[in-house]
Amino acid sequence: MKGIKIRGTGRSVPVKTVTNQDMAAIVDTSDEWISSRTGIQRRRHCGEGENLTSLSVQAARQALESAGVRPEEIGACIVATLSADTLVPSAACLVQRELGLPEDIPCFDLAAACTGFLFALHTMECLLNASPRKYGLVIGAEYLSRLINWEDRGTCILFGDGAGAAVVECREDWGTVPAVMGCHGDDKLLRVPGPGTSEPCLISMEGTQVFKFAVEAVPWCIRQVLETSGKTVEDVDFFVFHQANARIIDLAVRKYRIPQEKYYKNIQDYGNTSAASIPLVLSELQEQKKVGSGSRVLLVGFGGGLTWGGTLIEFA
Ligand code: ACO
Repeated sequence: MKGIKIRGTGRSVPVKTVTNQDMAAIVDTSDEWISSRTGIQRRRHCGEGENLTSLSVQAARQALESAGVRPEEIGACIVATLSADTLVPSAACLVQRELGLPEDIPCFDLAAACTGFLFALHTMECLLNASPRKYGLVIGAEYLSRLINWEDRGTCILFGDGAGAAVVECREDWGTVPAVMGCHGDDKLLRVPGPGTSEPCLISMEGTQVFKFAVEAVPWCIRQVLETSGKTVEDVDFFVFHQANARIIDLAVRKYRIPQEKYYKNIQDYGNTSAASIPLVLSELQEQKKVGSGSRVLLVGFGGGLTWGGTLIEFA
C-alpha cells in the first residue's frame, strides 16, 4: 500500500459576516450566551452569487496553486458535504467541470457530516493506490445556512458556510496514513431529513447529547491514533479538531496537556462549518506557516451519524 501526504491547501468563505448581535436580532439570544457556550463570535453565510459549488471551486483552485499541481494531474476528486447544491450532479462533478479535471477519474460526494473530510482523506488514499495518477483533490464544503431552522435558537446560531480543500500526493515510499473511523448508526441526535421523509429539510440536534458524545469521542480518537501509530503527543506538530464548540476542544487539550502553540481555533470566525471545518483550519495553518513541509498533524472529526474519526497525516 502506498501512502498520502498533503501537498497544498486552500479555502473560500462567503463575503457576508453574520455576528452574534445580528443573530440576537432574529432569535431570543445574546452575544454573551453564544460566545460563552460555544466560542462563536461570527459566521459567514452565502449571499448573492455564492453557493457550495463556487466556494468549492475557489478553495480547490487555491489548493492546486499551493501544491503546484495542474488539474490534469488529479486522479480523483471527493467533496465531503451534506449540503450540495444538487443531489445529482454531485458537487464533485461540478468542480470537475469548472476546473477541467480529467474525465477518466472518479468524482463524487461523500456524506459523513462533520467527519466527512476525514473519511474522504482515507477514501482518497485507497483510490490513489489504484490510480495511475498520484494526486487527489479532497474538498470539505458546506452551505449550512440554507438548512438552518430559524425558529430553533439552540441550533441556528451554530452553523456557517465555507469550503476548504487539500491536494494530496500518494507515493510508494510513504507508509499508509494511520486512521480510526466509526459510526453509531443514530438517527435521532442530529438530523437533516431528505426527500424520503415528510419532515422539512432543516437541521435539528439534541445539542447536550451530542456534546456528551463529542467529549468522549475526541480523546478516544486521539488515543487510538497515537496508539496505532506508536507516537506520543510530543511527536505531533499540530492538533486539528473539528470546530463545533470551543469547549469540546478545550476539554481535549486539557486532558492530553496539549500546549497552546500546538492547536488552533477559528470557530470564533466561522462557527461550525461541518465538513469544511478541518480543511479551513489546515489552510489557515499553512498560510500562517504554523505547519509546512514535514509537519505531522493529528486530525479529529465527529458529528452527525453519529460519526467520528482521527488520522495522523504529514505535509509533503
Ligand atoms: N441563546 C440563549 N439561550 C439558549 C440558546 C441561545 N441561542 N440556545 C439554547 N438556549 C437555552 C436553552 O433553552 C436552555 O434553557 P433552559 O435551561 O431554560 O431550558 C439553556 O439555554 C441550555 O440549553 P442547552 O441546549 O442545554 O445548552 P448547552 O450548554 O448544551 O449548549 C450547544 C448547546 C452549544 C448546542 C452544545 O450542546 C453543543 O455544542 N453541542 C455539541 C454540538 C456538536 O458538537 N455537534 C456536532 C457536529 S454538528 C454536525 O455534524 C452537522
